[in-house]
Amino acid sequence: MSPTVTILGIESTCDETSAALLVGGRELVTNVIYSQIEEHKKYHGVVPELASRAHAAKIAAVVKEALGERPLDYVAFASGPGLPGGLMVGRVAAETLARFKQVPLIGVNHLEGHLFACDFEGNQAQERLQFPLVALVVSGGHTELWYVKGYGQYKVLGRTRDDAAGEAFDKVAKLLGLAYPGGPQVSKQALTGRRDAIAFPRPLLPGTWEFSFSGIKTAVSYYLRDHQSISIPDVCASFEQAMVDTLVTKTLLAARAYKVKHIAVGGGVAANALLRQHMQERGAKEGIRVRFVERKLSSDNAAMIALCAYKKLQYAEQTGKPLPANINIDPNMKVRNWGGKE
Ligand code: KG4
Ligand code: ZN
Repeated sequence: MSPTVTILGIESTCDETSAALLVGGRELVTNVIYSQIEEHKKYHGVVPELASRAHAAKIAAVVKEALGERPLDYVAFASGPGLPGGLMVGRVAAETLARFKQVPLIGVNHLEGHLFACDFEGNQAQERLQFPLVALVVSGGHTELWYVKGYGQYKVLGRTRDDAAGEAFDKVAKLLGLAYPGGPQVSKQALTGRRDAIAFPRPLLPGTWEFSFSGIKTAVSYYLRDHQSISIPDVCASFEQAMVDTLVTKTLLAARAYKVKHIAVGGGVAANALLRQHMQERGAKEGIRVRFVERKLSSDNAAMIALCAYKKLQYAEQTGKPLPANINIDPNMKVRNWGGKE
């Protein structure tokens, strides 16, 4: 592969329309992100129909801004999981561009993108992710725990049975009358609250690596129903602590069970400062190194899609194996191995 291989990534699975240009796997020339937050704010969550329309309206301008007049070797896009309308817009844009430029098209799993975003720290040479590791992918639509033996070698340990962690933050914010997206708002309120004010549950579900967050959210709604005067900062601080304790405890248990010394955390909720602090501190006590995605690449963006495509191309080149195109969109796409057996 040429050291200047140029990949244009496209991301449109949820409520960000994004395109990014990655050169040589390291140099992120552009990462244009159009966020639809303003469109969805008044509904306190993503409205799929509005999302599809906004993607369709913005994608051409976003791609144009990211690519400019530069040459191109590959187009990569997020083919799932995600909202069907957004996925279709992304696929059509990616395929049109690939045909027009006569370059190959590569489909990428959005959740794998969140993991690969942890492997990028700017334009300088950096320490690579170290395997085996336990990955926590924690976003508004998904919460998954993986054992990762190497690039493209996954064993999914568990997913959430109900709400994703980010969704729980968003729903609690809505209950409290805070703006969407709820995670950053809850965190901000929590700064002045007491973390031990209210004993919300920590659902650890022993015997499985699955998560369940709807119980914490329901406990918050019962607390609000049963108390006349409440302190929003105390509710936020106690809720955030319960979420973080649950995520950290479960991830560290998995790292211990699988005897790994590395953890990677990606996805929108990875921006949470309390999660970052507790995972790092508790990990360090067990000799485990925790790699968090840098904040600016934590929420949905196309750089992570281009990065994932780059890793796949590198693997195909090193092994001589053909690269599965993976271009069929799938709203419920599960992570699949492409780097050998798990
Ligand atoms: O990865 P992402 O941008 O989109 C999905 O793929 O879902 O994640 C968005 C989610 C939202 O639920 C948002 O509330 C949450 O990430 N989030 C946070 C924080 N920043 C964003 N949750 C907790 N604390 C934060 N600081
Ligand atoms: Zn995401």
